Amino acid sequence: MDALLAWLGETALAEWMRLSRWGYAAINTLHVLGISLLIGTIVALDLRLLGCRRQLPPGELGRLLQPLAVAGLLLAMATGSLLFLADPGGYAESWLFRLKLVLIALAVANALWLGLGPGLAGATPRRLRLAGMLSLLLWPAVLLAGRFLAFVDD
Ligand code: HEM
Repeated sequence: MDALLAWLGETALAEWMRLSRWGYAAINTLHVLGISLLIGTIVALDLRLLGCRRQLPPGELGRLLQPLAVAGLLLAMATGSLLFLADPGGYAESWLFRLKLVLIALAVANALWLGLGPGLAGATPRRLRLAGMLSLLLWPAVLLAGRFLAFVDD
Protein backbone atom coordinates (compact mmCIF):
# COMPACT_ATOMS: atom_id res chain seq x y z
CA MET A 1 0.00 0.00 0.00
CA ASP A 2 2.81 2.41 0.94
CA ALA A 3 4.55 1.65 -2.36
CA LEU A 4 1.35 2.36 -4.31
CA LEU A 5 0.83 5.66 -2.48
CA ALA A 6 4.47 6.64 -3.08
CA TRP A 7 4.16 5.77 -6.77
CA LEU A 8 0.92 7.77 -7.08
CA GLY A 9 2.66 10.77 -5.51
CA GLU A 10 5.45 10.61 -8.09
CA THR A 11 3.26 10.52 -11.22
CA ALA A 12 3.34 13.50 -13.61
CA LEU A 13 -0.27 14.34 -12.69
CA ALA A 14 0.59 14.44 -8.98
CA GLU A 15 3.58 16.68 -9.72
CA TRP A 16 1.31 18.99 -11.74
CA MET A 17 -1.22 19.14 -8.89
CA ARG A 18 1.57 20.18 -6.50
CA LEU A 19 3.32 22.68 -8.76
CA SER A 20 0.54 24.32 -10.76
CA ARG A 21 -1.07 26.92 -8.54
CA TRP A 22 -3.82 27.71 -11.06
CA GLY A 23 -4.25 24.05 -11.95
CA TYR A 24 -4.85 23.16 -8.29
CA ALA A 25 -7.18 26.15 -7.92
CA ALA A 26 -9.18 25.11 -11.02
CA ILE A 27 -9.55 21.49 -9.83
CA ASN A 28 -10.50 22.70 -6.35
CA THR A 29 -13.12 25.02 -7.87
CA LEU A 30 -14.57 22.14 -9.93
CA HIS A 31 -14.66 20.07 -6.71
CA VAL A 32 -16.71 22.79 -5.02
CA LEU A 33 -18.96 23.01 -8.12
CA GLY A 34 -19.65 19.27 -7.95
CA ILE A 35 -20.35 19.50 -4.22
CA SER A 36 -22.76 22.42 -4.76
CA LEU A 37 -24.66 20.50 -7.43
CA LEU A 38 -24.82 17.39 -5.22
CA ILE A 39 -25.82 19.09 -1.95
CA GLY A 40 -28.19 21.60 -3.61
CA THR A 41 -30.23 18.90 -5.30
CA ILE A 42 -30.04 16.22 -2.61
CA VAL A 43 -31.25 18.55 0.18
CA ALA A 44 -34.34 19.49 -1.88
CA LEU A 45 -35.09 15.81 -2.54
CA ASP A 46 -34.47 14.85 1.10
CA LEU A 47 -36.92 17.50 2.33
CA ARG A 48 -39.59 15.94 0.10
CA LEU A 49 -38.72 12.47 1.45
CA LEU A 50 -39.14 13.85 4.98
CA GLY A 51 -42.67 14.94 4.09
CA CYS A 52 -42.40 18.55 2.87
CA ARG A 53 -44.53 19.54 -0.15
CA ARG A 54 -46.52 16.30 -0.23
CA GLN A 55 -48.29 17.39 -3.44
CA LEU A 56 -45.01 16.77 -5.36
CA PRO A 57 -44.75 13.06 -6.37
CA PRO A 58 -41.35 11.78 -5.08
CA GLY A 59 -40.79 9.74 -8.27
CA GLU A 60 -41.24 12.82 -10.50
CA LEU A 61 -39.01 14.99 -8.31
CA GLY A 62 -36.39 12.23 -8.29
CA ARG A 63 -36.37 12.07 -12.10
CA LEU A 64 -35.42 15.76 -12.15
CA LEU A 65 -33.04 15.95 -9.18
CA GLN A 66 -31.32 12.53 -9.02
CA PRO A 67 -29.38 12.81 -12.33
CA LEU A 68 -28.10 16.23 -11.22
CA ALA A 69 -27.06 14.84 -7.82
CA VAL A 70 -25.27 11.91 -9.49
CA ALA A 71 -23.50 14.30 -11.92
CA GLY A 72 -22.38 16.43 -8.94
CA LEU A 73 -21.13 13.36 -7.07
CA LEU A 74 -19.20 12.07 -10.10
CA LEU A 75 -17.59 15.50 -10.60
CA ALA A 76 -16.70 15.67 -6.87
CA MET A 77 -15.22 12.14 -7.00
CA ALA A 78 -13.13 12.81 -10.11
CA THR A 79 -11.77 16.14 -8.89
CA GLY A 80 -11.41 14.84 -5.29
CA SER A 81 -9.18 12.04 -6.60
CA LEU A 82 -6.97 14.67 -8.31
CA LEU A 83 -6.77 16.72 -5.08
CA PHE A 84 -5.81 13.50 -3.28
CA LEU A 85 -2.91 13.03 -5.72
CA ALA A 86 -1.25 16.18 -4.37
CA ASP A 87 -0.36 14.27 -1.17
CA PRO A 88 -1.48 10.62 -1.29
CA GLY A 89 0.55 9.50 1.75
CA GLY A 90 -0.59 12.41 3.90
CA TYR A 91 -4.30 12.02 3.08
CA ALA A 92 -4.18 8.23 3.48
CA GLU A 93 -2.84 8.71 7.03
CA SER A 94 -5.40 11.38 7.93
CA TRP A 95 -8.23 10.10 10.18
CA LEU A 96 -10.48 12.87 8.89
CA PHE A 97 -9.91 11.93 5.24
CA ARG A 98 -10.65 8.29 6.08
CA LEU A 99 -13.79 9.34 7.94
CA LYS A 100 -14.85 11.37 4.90
CA LEU A 101 -14.49 8.31 2.63
CA VAL A 102 -16.50 6.15 5.07
CA LEU A 103 -19.25 8.80 5.20
CA ILE A 104 -19.35 8.96 1.37
CA ALA A 105 -19.63 5.16 1.22
CA LEU A 106 -22.50 5.20 3.77
CA ALA A 107 -24.32 8.02 1.95
CA VAL A 108 -24.03 6.23 -1.40
CA ALA A 109 -25.15 2.94 0.20
CA ASN A 110 -28.20 4.70 1.65
CA ALA A 111 -29.13 6.08 -1.79
CA LEU A 112 -28.62 2.68 -3.47
CA TRP A 113 -30.58 0.87 -0.73
CA LEU A 114 -33.62 2.96 -1.62
CA GLY A 115 -32.99 3.25 -5.37
CA LEU A 116 -32.29 -0.44 -6.01
CA GLY A 117 -34.95 -1.49 -3.48
CA PRO A 118 -38.48 -0.11 -3.56
CA GLY A 119 -37.45 3.07 -5.45
CA LEU A 120 -38.75 6.58 -4.82
CA ALA A 121 -42.16 5.86 -6.37
CA GLY A 122 -42.71 2.50 -4.62
CA ALA A 123 -41.43 3.11 -1.08
CA THR A 124 -43.70 3.67 1.93
CA PRO A 125 -43.68 7.17 3.50
CA ARG A 126 -41.84 5.68 6.53
CA ARG A 127 -39.12 4.19 4.29
CA LEU A 128 -38.78 7.51 2.41
CA ARG A 129 -38.45 9.40 5.71
CA LEU A 130 -35.67 7.08 6.92
CA ALA A 131 -33.70 7.45 3.67
CA GLY A 132 -34.22 11.23 3.64
CA MET A 133 -33.11 11.61 7.26
CA LEU A 134 -29.95 9.53 6.78
CA SER A 135 -29.10 11.40 3.58
CA LEU A 136 -29.66 14.77 5.25
CA LEU A 137 -27.23 13.77 8.02
CA LEU A 138 -24.58 12.02 5.91
CA TRP A 139 -24.00 14.38 2.95
CA PRO A 140 -23.53 17.55 5.03
CA ALA A 141 -21.22 15.51 7.32
CA VAL A 142 -19.12 14.67 4.20
CA LEU A 143 -19.03 18.37 3.36
CA LEU A 144 -17.88 19.30 6.88
CA ALA A 145 -15.17 16.61 6.87
CA GLY A 146 -13.92 17.89 3.49
CA ARG A 147 -13.85 21.53 4.59
CA PHE A 148 -12.09 20.77 7.88
CA LEU A 149 -9.37 18.70 6.18
CA ALA A 150 -7.43 21.88 5.47
CA PHE A 151 -7.51 22.91 9.15
CA VAL A 152 -7.03 19.67 11.11
CA ASP A 153 -3.43 18.52 11.62
CA ASP A 154 -2.69 14.89 12.28
C1 HEM B 1 -14.03 10.16 -3.77
C2 HEM B 1 -14.52 11.34 -3.45
C3 HEM B 1 -13.73 12.49 -2.86
C4 HEM B 1 -12.37 12.62 -2.63
C5 HEM B 1 -11.25 11.61 -2.91
C6 HEM B 1 -12.17 13.95 -2.07
C7 HEM B 1 -10.94 14.48 -1.72
C8 HEM B 1 -10.73 15.78 -1.30
C9 HEM B 1 -9.45 16.38 -1.03
C10 HEM B 1 -8.11 15.66 -1.15
C11 HEM B 1 -9.65 17.67 -0.65
C12 HEM B 1 -8.60 18.73 -0.30
C13 HEM B 1 -8.49 18.82 1.21
C14 HEM B 1 -7.47 19.84 1.67
O1 HEM B 1 -7.78 21.05 1.64
O2 HEM B 1 -6.36 19.44 2.04
C15 HEM B 1 -11.09 17.89 -0.65
C16 HEM B 1 -11.70 19.08 -0.30
C17 HEM B 1 -13.04 19.19 -0.05
N1 HEM B 1 -14.00 18.21 -0.26
FE1 HEM B 1 -13.69 16.42 -1.15
N2 HEM B 1 -13.39 14.57 -1.95
C18 HEM B 1 -14.36 13.71 -2.42
C19 HEM B 1 -15.71 13.95 -2.45
C20 HEM B 1 -16.32 14.99 -1.78
C21 HEM B 1 -17.75 15.15 -1.60
C22 HEM B 1 -18.80 14.16 -2.14
C23 HEM B 1 -17.94 16.28 -0.85
C24 HEM B 1 -19.22 16.92 -0.34
C25 HEM B 1 -20.39 16.37 -0.27
C26 HEM B 1 -16.64 16.85 -0.59
C27 HEM B 1 -16.42 18.02 0.12
C28 HEM B 1 -15.22 18.70 0.16
C29 HEM B 1 -15.05 20.06 0.67
C30 HEM B 1 -16.14 20.99 1.21
C31 HEM B 1 -13.69 20.37 0.51
C32 HEM B 1 -13.00 21.68 0.86
C33 HEM B 1 -13.00 22.54 -0.42
C34 HEM B 1 -12.41 23.90 -0.14
O3 HEM B 1 -12.70 24.47 0.88
O4 HEM B 1 -11.64 24.41 -0.95
N3 HEM B 1 -15.68 16.05 -1.17
N4 HEM B 1 -11.71 16.74 -1.06
